[in-house]
Amino acid sequence: MTRCTNQTPVFFQRHRIDAAALAEEAASGLLCPDAHVSPKFFYDALGSRLFDAITELTEYYPTRTEAAIFAQHGARIAEAAIAATAPAPVLVDLGAGDCAKAERLFGVLAPKRYVAVDISSEFLQQAMLGLQRRHPAVEMVGVGLDFSQGLQLEADIVGAGPALVFYPGSSIGNFAPDAALRLLREARALCAGGALLIGVDLVKPRAPLETAYDDPLGVTAAFNLNLLRNLNRLLGADFDVRQWQHVAFFDADRSRIEMHLQARERLTVRWPAASRTFAPGERIHTENSYKWSRQGFVDLLHEAGFTVTRCWTDAQAWFGVFLASG
Ligand code: AVJ
Repeated sequence: MTRCTNQTPVFFQRHRIDAAALAEEAASGLLCPDAHVSPKFFYDALGSRLFDAITELTEYYPTRTEAAIFAQHGARIAEAAIAATAPAPVLVDLGAGDCAKAERLFGVLAPKRYVAVDISSEFLQQAMLGLQRRHPAVEMVGVGLDFSQGLQLEADIVGAGPALVFYPGSSIGNFAPDAALRLLREARALCAGGALLIGVDLVKPRAPLETAYDDPLGVTAAFNLNLLRNLNRLLGADFDVRQWQHVAFFDADRSRIEMHLQARERLTVRWPAASRTFAPGERIHTENSYKWSRQGFVDLLHEAGFTVTRCWTDAQAWFGVFLASG
């Protein structure tokens, strides 16, 4: 038997990172009467580091709480995931980033193949080189894809399966319920005969929610304001960060945190193709982060076609790790 110990990750680029198209998308949002910009514009090099800093904050409970759930229930979660994906899963990692969360599952899951999907393809390719060196026997496939636009992967990318689709970190919260349902249906199609393992932030009292998104050190404010710097670069715009204020609040009716940038004074932003004047107090909506009830998310999983669901939470039930199959 030949043991392949010198594999190289295979990489597929599934969307063009087209600076002109990104600039066009940002500009059209800015020119809407209710100005808005997609949260994907947070994540330039500095924005990604600021997000990492957010996850270190005492006030930002999601990352820490999800990790604690895996620390406390990891053996049972793994056991259930293994049972749902026998004999050996293809691990499909959505928003893989540096692949660190998935790598922690390698030991116990022993995936035959690891498929990492992320919008940030250069970063992903770099991370996968190190990962392949540490796990020479696992087939590795990287996919550069903005799956907020759709998650259809060719059959040969996932291979024979069964797949375990892994979507940690509560990034599903960036999707409105209808878009979340669409994404979960696509995930269900990917892991037919397999399972989905997903981290979801749960509804909780207003105070800890709002402090998590408006922390006293101002790290989240810097993360939000940095989007303007990114737009200056992408668009050739002249946003002055000092004219803007970070705003974050929980809208209980929609069960979501909203983040905005609010003009401190009357101002005009110019870029080569257009300009926009903002009145004092006028806002740019930059992010929604939906908070689900445990039952609400179970219902959503069933609507997406899953029949068997399990959920592990922390003692306060602030965060849920759901395993869905069937
Ligand atoms: C990366 C989408 C899970 O919604 O909590 C953190 C992003 N925004 N602080 C979240 C975020 C402000 C984060 N997600």
